[in-house]
Amino acid sequence: MQSDTTIINNETSTVDLYNNTANSWVREQAISLSDFTARPFVLQLCEPISQLRVLDLGCGEGYCSRELRRRKAAQVHGIDISQGMIAAASLQETNNPLGITYEVGCATNLSQFNDGELDLVVAVFLFNYLTIAQTQECMREIVRVLQPGGRFVFSIPHPSFPYMREAAYPFYFQVDGSGYFSQRDQQFAGRIWKRDGSWLNVQLIHKTLEDYFNSLNIAGFTKMPMLKELRVTPEHIALDESFFRPLEDLPLHLAIQISK
Ligand SMILES: C[S@@+](CC[C@H](N)C(=O)[O-])C[C@H]1O[C@@H](n2cnc3c(N)ncnc32)[C@H](O)[C@@H]1O
Repeated sequence: MQSDTTIINNETSTVDLYNNTANSWVREQAISLSDFTARPFVLQLCEPISQLRVLDLGCGEGYCSRELRRRKAAQVHGIDISQGMIAAASLQETNNPLGITYEVGCATNLSQFNDGELDLVVAVFLFNYLTIAQTQECMREIVRVLQPGGRFVFSIPHPSFPYMREAAYPFYFQVDGSGYFSQRDQQFAGRIWKRDGSWLNVQLIHKTLEDYFNSLNIAGFTKMPMLKELRVTPEHIALDESFFRPLEDLPLHLAIQISK
C-alpha cells in the first residue's frame, strides 16, 4: 500500500508542474538546452521512422510527436499525464493538422493498446518522473504493445550528471549532497534553461544506470541496447558559446534504443 501513496504523490506534483507550465513548453523550433543536446539525437535513434505506428509516451505539448509525423510515421499517438500539456498539443494539431492523436493518460497503463500493435515507442524525458517500480510497470507495458522486432527509444537525464556539477545555469537537478546509491527513488527539483534566458522547471526521480537496465530486463527486453551518452558538441559551442560552454565535457543525457 505504501507504493500506492508514492505513486499518487509524485503523479500529483508532476501533473501540477506541467499543467502550470504547459504554455512555456510550446515551441516549433529548438529553444531549450535539451532541444539541442538531446532531442535531435533521440530522433536519429528512432530512424527509420517512415510508415511506423508510433506511440510517444510523455509527449508533452507534442514537439517530438510532430517531428515523428513529419518524418513520415504512419501514425503517431501521444499520451501525457498533464491535461494542460495535452490541451497545448491538441491546440497545435487543430491549428496545423498533421494527423496526430493525443490523449491524457498514465504511461504505466497502456490497456487501450492490443498486444503487438505498435512498431516504435518513444519516451523523451518521461522516466525522470517515474519511480523504479513505475518504470518497470511502464516498460512491461511497452514490451507488450510492441510487435516482435519493434523498437523502444527513450532519453533520460544521465544518472551521474546531477552528482558531477553544482546546481547552476544552464541545467541542473538539485540533489542533496552526494548519494548516488542512497538517493534512489528520491525526487529532486531541477531547472533547464532556454537560449532566450528563460527556464523550465523540471524534476528528477533519481535512478541509477543499473536501475534502468534492470527495469528493461525485468520488463522482458533481452536484446543488446544501443546507448548514446549525449553531450555538448563543438557545433553547439560554435552556435552559442555562453550557453553551451558551461556544460562542456559533461555527460548530460542518455539515449537508448532497444528492440523487442
Ligand atoms: C520533460 S517533459 C518532456 C515532454 C516531451 N516528451 C518533450 O520532449 O518535449 C516530461 C513529460 O512527461 C509527462 N509525464 C510525467 N509523468 C507521466 C506519466 N506517468 N504518464 C504520462 N506522462 C507523464 C509530463 O506531464 C511531461 O509532459
